[in-house]
Amino acid sequence: MRSHYCGELTAKNISEIVTLCGWVHRRRDHGGVIFLDLRDREGITQVVFDPDRAESFALADSVRNEYVVKVTGLVRARPEGTTNANMTTGEIELLGHELEILNKSATPPFQLDEHQSVGEDVRLKNRFVDLRRPEIQQKLRFRSKVTSVLRRYLDENGFLDIETPILTRATPEGARDYLVPSRTHQGSFFALPQSPQLFKQLLMVSGFDRYYQIAKCFRDEDLRADRQPEFTQIDLETSFLGQEDIMSLTEGMISNLFKELKGVDLGEFPRMPFSEAMEKYGSDKPDLRIPLTIETVSDLMTEVDFKVFSGPAADPKGRVAALKVPGGNALTRKQIDEYTKFVGIYGAKGLAYIKVNDKSDLEEGLQSPIVKFLPTEVRQALLDRVAAEDGDLIFFGADKASIVNEALGALRCKLGADLDLYTCEWAPLWVVDFPMFEETPDGGVTAIHHPFTAPSCSPEELQAKPLEALSQAYDMVLNGTELGGGSIRIHQAEMQQTVFGLLNISPEEQREKFGFLLDALKFGAPPHGGLAFGLDRLVMLMTGSSSIRDVIAFPKTQSATCLLTQAPGEVSEKQLKELSIRVRKPVTE
Ligand code: AMO
Ligand code: AMP
Repeated sequence: MRSHYCGELTAKNISEIVTLCGWVHRRRDHGGVIFLDLRDREGITQVVFDPDRAESFALADSVRNEYVVKVTGLVRARPEGTTNANMTTGEIELLGHELEILNKSATPPFQLDEHQSVGEDVRLKNRFVDLRRPEIQQKLRFRSKVTSVLRRYLDENGFLDIETPILTRATPEGARDYLVPSRTHQGSFFALPQSPQLFKQLLMVSGFDRYYQIAKCFRDEDLRADRQPEFTQIDLETSFLGQEDIMSLTEGMISNLFKELKGVDLGEFPRMPFSEAMEKYGSDKPDLRIPLTIETVSDLMTEVDFKVFSGPAADPKGRVAALKVPGGNALTRKQIDEYTKFVGIYGAKGLAYIKVNDKSDLEEGLQSPIVKFLPTEVRQALLDRVAAEDGDLIFFGADKASIVNEALGALRCKLGADLDLYTCEWAPLWVVDFPMFEETPDGGVTAIHHPFTAPSCSPEELQAKPLEALSQAYDMVLNGTELGGGSIRIHQAEMQQTVFGLLNISPEEQREKFGFLLDALKFGAPPHGGLAFGLDRLVMLMTGSSSIRDVIAFPKTQSATCLLTQAPGEVSEKQLKELSIRVRKPVTE
C-alpha cells in the first residue's frame, strides 16, 4: 500500500510523489490549511492539505486522532522558518493530493503524549494504544536488536538453539509453581518451568555440548519492579568448560552487546567473593557506581555502655556496622528521620549517627545522640576505622547481621540515588564463591542457587559442614541488578543425592521428583555448567527504564494479572468437569 515509511522521508525525497500509511498523530487547522502529523513505526511526517483540492481537504477536515489513513502526495521542502531540526523528517512536508481513510478510531482513552499523567492501570488495560507511543516502540525495537546480537554471538560460538517443554514437572528455583491440570490424567498437574534448568542439563548428558534458548520462565512469587511472573531468560549450558571459561564466554557476550548497541566499553569485570559483597555492600548484588562502603565496628563496641550496640557486638550472628557519608554533615534532622524510617522497612530498629564537625575535638566536635555512650578511645578508633573527615556523617546499624546488611545495603543505594553519588554510568561485576546453603528459620538449609549446583568440596566434606561449603556458582551484576546467574553443575549421582539429602528430600521423594535426573547422571553425564541472564532486566538497564514492565509488550501487574485480557479468568463448569476439578470457595482474608 505504501511507498515509504513516514519516518524515512528526508530532503533527498523532495519532488517525489510518495504514498504513506499510518495513524493520525495530531490534526491541526491553521486558518485555511490542515496539517496532519502522520505516524508509523519509523516516525512522523507532516502532511498539508490545501483547500484547492476540495475533496481531500474535506476528508482531512473530518479525520480525528488515531484514524488510520493512506496519503499520496508530493514531498516538498518546508517553508523557511518552519523546519524542525529535532525530527528526521523536519526539513520536508508532504503536500497531500489524495487521502483515504482506511479505518476510523474512537477517541483514544488517553492522548499518546500525555501518558505520563495517566495511571499505569489505564495504560495496561489499553496496551494496544499505549504501545503506539514512540518511546515504548523504541524500547521494544531495542529489545529485538538485543536478542538478535546475542543470538549471533552464541551462534558464532557454537551454541545450538534447542527448545524445551513448557508443560513439564516442577523445576525448583525457589518460587511457587504455576500448575496446569491434565485432562487425560485427572488429578495430575503439569508445572510450567521456573527455568529450563533440568532439560538443559539433560541436553548436556545427551552430548549437544553447547545449548542456548531464549526461554520463557514462570514463577509465582512476590513481584517487584524487576520481577514478572512470566519473564524471559537467555539460557545457556555447556559441557567440558570450567567456571572461568563460562564466565569469560558470557562476559564476552555482554561486553560485545554493549559495544555493538551502545558503543560502550565495559572493560574487564571485577570479581568479588560473596562474603566481601555482604560485608562491604550489604548485598550480593552491589551497585559499584556508588563509592560508599560499610565497615564492621562490632569489635569496638563489645564493652560500650549502650545495649543497642554491645548486644549485637557480642552476638556471633550480630553485627554493628558503620556507613560513612562524605559531606553528610549537611543532612538535616528531617532527612535523617526519613532515612531512619526507610531502614525500618528492612527491620532496623533505629539509625544511630554521628556528625563529624571537628574530628580533632572528641568531646565537642562530634554531634550525635549516641556519642555520650562511647568512651574517647572508641570515638577515636571509630573515626580512624572509617577514615572520617570533618563534614562527614556516619550512620550505624546494630542488629542481627542479616538485618544490618539489608538495611545499610539499601540505605547505601538510596543515598547514592538521593545525593547523586554515582561515579560512573556502568558498573558490572561478578559475584563468586557463594555458600552452597543458607539456614532456614526452622533450622534446615536451603540452596542459595539451586540444588543442582556443584559444591567446591567432596560429598563427605559437604555432609560434615554444609553451611561452610562454598559452591561453584557465579552471578553477573550490573548497577546493583542481578543480570544473570549460573553454576557448574553436579554431574555425579552420589553428590546429587547428598545435596538432596541435606535439603531434607527423602530418597523416595528424590526418586519421585528427580528420578529422571538421577538416572541421567548415571549414564555418562559429562562435567557441565551454564548460566541464565534475565533478558527483561538486561533491556531495562540498557534502555534506562525504571521497570521491566516498560520493556515487555504485554506485562502483568504487581498482583500478577493481565488487565488487557482480564487473565486469569474463570472457566466454564464444563471445562472444570472434564478436568475433574471442583473449585472451593476462594479463601477471603
Ligand atoms: P536464576 O533463578 O538466578 O537462575 O535466574 C536467572 C536470571 O533470570 C532473571 N530473573 C527474573 N527476571 C524477571 N522476573 C523474574 N521473576 C525473574 N527471576 C529471575 C534474573 C536472574 O539473574 N536455572 C538458573 C540459571 C542457571 O543456573 O543456569 C536460573 O534460573 O536476571
Ligand atoms: P534510643 O536509645 O532508642 O533513643 O536510640 C538512640 C539512637 O540509636 C537513635 O538515633 C536511634 O535511631 C539509634 N538506634 C536505636 N536502635 C538502633 C539499632 N538497632 N541500630 C542502629 N541504631 C539504632
